[in-house]
Amino acid sequence: MSTSPAPTPATPTDPTAPDRNLAMELVRVTEAAAIAGSRWVGHGDKNTADGAAVDAMRAFMDTVAMNGTVVIGEGEKDEAPMLFNGEQVGDGTGPDVDVAVDPIDGTRLTAMGYPNALSVFAVAERGSMLDPSAVFYMDKLVVGAEAAEAVDLARPVADNIRAVSEALGKPISQVTVCVLDRPRHEGLVREIREAGARVKFIMDGDVAGAIAAARPGTGVDMLLGTGGTPEGIVAACAIKAIGGMIQGRMAPGSDEEREKARAAGLDVERIYSTGDLVTSDNCYFAATGITDGELLRGVRFEHGRLVTQSLVMRSASGTVRVVEAEHRLEKWSRWLRD
Ligand code: FBP
Repeated sequence: MSTSPAPTPATPTDPTAPDRNLAMELVRVTEAAAIAGSRWVGHGDKNTADGAAVDAMRAFMDTVAMNGTVVIGEGEKDEAPMLFNGEQVGDGTGPDVDVAVDPIDGTRLTAMGYPNALSVFAVAERGSMLDPSAVFYMDKLVVGAEAAEAVDLARPVADNIRAVSEALGKPISQVTVCVLDRPRHEGLVREIREAGARVKFIMDGDVAGAIAAARPGTGVDMLLGTGGTPEGIVAACAIKAIGGMIQGRMAPGSDEEREKARAAGLDVERIYSTGDLVTSDNCYFAATGITDGELLRGVRFEHGRLVTQSLVMRSASGTVRVVEAEHRLEKWSRWLRD
C-alpha cells in the first residue's frame, strides 16, 4: 500500500482545480443532431434534413445539466415549434445560461451532399449573448490570435490584408481570405484580388469559415463578408475558446429592419467586437461534422457503426478537443428511419 500523503483537496477558488466541463455534455447533443441530419445527406431536401436535426437536438438537449434559455434558435415561437427563441432547455439543475443552436449550419450543403455542413451548439453565462434577432445579416471580419490586434473592420480591405500579412510574417500573395460565394460579395472579392491575396470561396456555412480563420493551421487566414447574424454570435463563442477575434457590424437590408434594430437597442453604425457579441468569458462550444469538411469529418456509416467527429471547446480553459466517437447503429434507428 502506498504511504504517500493524500493530495490536498482543491479549494473552490483554485483556478487550476478540475471542474465540470459542460461542453463535454454539449457534444452528445451535436452528435445526435448531426447523425439525424446525416440521414438526409444528398436527398435534395434541406427542410427535412433540418427538421430531423432539430428533433434530435431538442430531444438530447434536456439531458444537459443547465438551466438554459434559447437566445439564438430556429426563430420566433409561431414559426419554430422547437428551439424557438426564449424556449427553456436543459434539465434545470445546472447553471443559468444563454443557449445558441444551429442544428445544421449548411442546410443546403447537407441536402446537396456538399462539404462543410456542421451541427453547432454554444452556451454562455445568462445574459451574455447579444440577441441579434432584429437584423438578419452582419458584416464580419475574423482573424486568428496573431493578427487580432492588427485589423479593424472600419479600415479598407487592402489595409486589413496588409496588416494580416505583416502579423503572420508572410507575403500578401500567401494570405488566404475565406468568403461566402454570393453576388453581394462581388466588390469585396475584387478588392481582395486587387490587394493581391487569395480567395477561398465557401458555398455556405460561415461558422466553419470563421473557425477556420481563427484556428491556426487550417490554411485560412481571414474571413470577410456578410453572413447571418446568429452565425456571428455562435462563431464568437468558439473564438473565445480558440483565440483570435471576430468583428461584426449589423447590415440591415431595409428601412424596416433598420428600425427594428434601433428598437432592439442595436447600433447599426457600431463595430461589435468578440466581447460585445458574447460578453462572458465562460463559453462552451461543440460542433459535429455532418458532411466531410476541412474542419471535421462528416458522419460515416461503417460496419454497423456510426462514426462522428466533433470539436469541443471551453473558453475558460482554452481547451480544444477533437472527439471521434463510434456509435452502435441500432441505437440510432429511431433517428435514421425512412
Ligand atoms: P443555413 O444552414 O441556415 O441555410 O445557413 C447557411 C449560411 O451559409 C450561414 O452559414 C450563413 O451565415 C448564411 O447562410 C448566409 O446567408 P445567405 O445564404 O442568405 O447568404
